Amino acid sequence: MNITIIYGQKHKGNTWRLAQLFLDQFEEKQITEFYLPESAPAYCSGCLNCIYKGETLCPHAKAVQPIVNALDEADLIVMASPCYVMNMTGQMKTLLDHLAYRYLSHRPEPSMFGKQGLVLSTATGLGARKTAKTIAGNLFFWGVAKIYRFGMPIGAADFDHIPKKRMQKITRKANGIARRIRKKDGRARPGLKTRLMFSIMKLGQKNNDWNPRDREHWVRQGWLKA
Ligand SMILES: Cc1cc2nc3c(=O)[nH]c(=O)nc-3n(C[C@H](O)[C@H](O)[C@H](O)COP(=O)(O)O)c2cc1C
Repeated sequence: MNITIIYGQKHKGNTWRLAQLFLDQFEEKQITEFYLPESAPAYCSGCLNCIYKGETLCPHAKAVQPIVNALDEADLIVMASPCYVMNMTGQMKTLLDHLAYRYLSHRPEPSMFGKQGLVLSTATGLGARKTAKTIAGNLFFWGVAKIYRFGMPIGAADFDHIPKKRMQKITRKANGIARRIRKKDGRARPGLKTRLMFSIMKLGQKNNDWNPRDREHWVRQGWLKA
């Protein structure tokens, strides 16, 4: 399995440890990993070049496009962010901003419709679930077929101090999700919600006279045929 993992932090703390719990569950794997902000340090400047002119004209394309290529190569996309003030880290959000042009409303990458996504987050108390949900929302709008979320309140000073019973529960849950991912590898198909959203966006693209770059993409993919 080809796995691309993006860490919303550069240190190997609780979220990294949680990610390893999952990665250990996949035997035959090739992992490509990115740590933020090192891998993509710049904020989106809001120039809209990606959306109107093309992603290669983004001022930060040199950093962003290698990540995009790795996402396209992956069977499983893993996004892992600690919860900072009730949501993802700023650096993770910064990367996601750079990928707006790949939303279903613009130029979704067709291979996303056959991929699986896993979103991980840790918090001390509150916010990990919300963090995972927000990031998962982005994967949904990229068109990722099957998305799993695991937002985990650590409830301890750090990973090594999680009470044994709780750790067993976490491991059980992680194993269960990993099993489902392995089973679906190469066989993920978009669910009803994604298909519905795609149809709505298709209607929009049929009447799109404001962004030729997006419309060309939909025509080239053959998505606007009746
Ligand atoms: C700037 C900052 C903000 C945080 N905000 C929250 C929060 O809103 N809720 C929470 O429960 N924990 C919060 N935490 C704690 C972290 O989410 C928690 O320690 C997490 O497991 C850290 O993961 P890491 O070791 O991968 O960095 C915050 C930590 C930092 C540094």
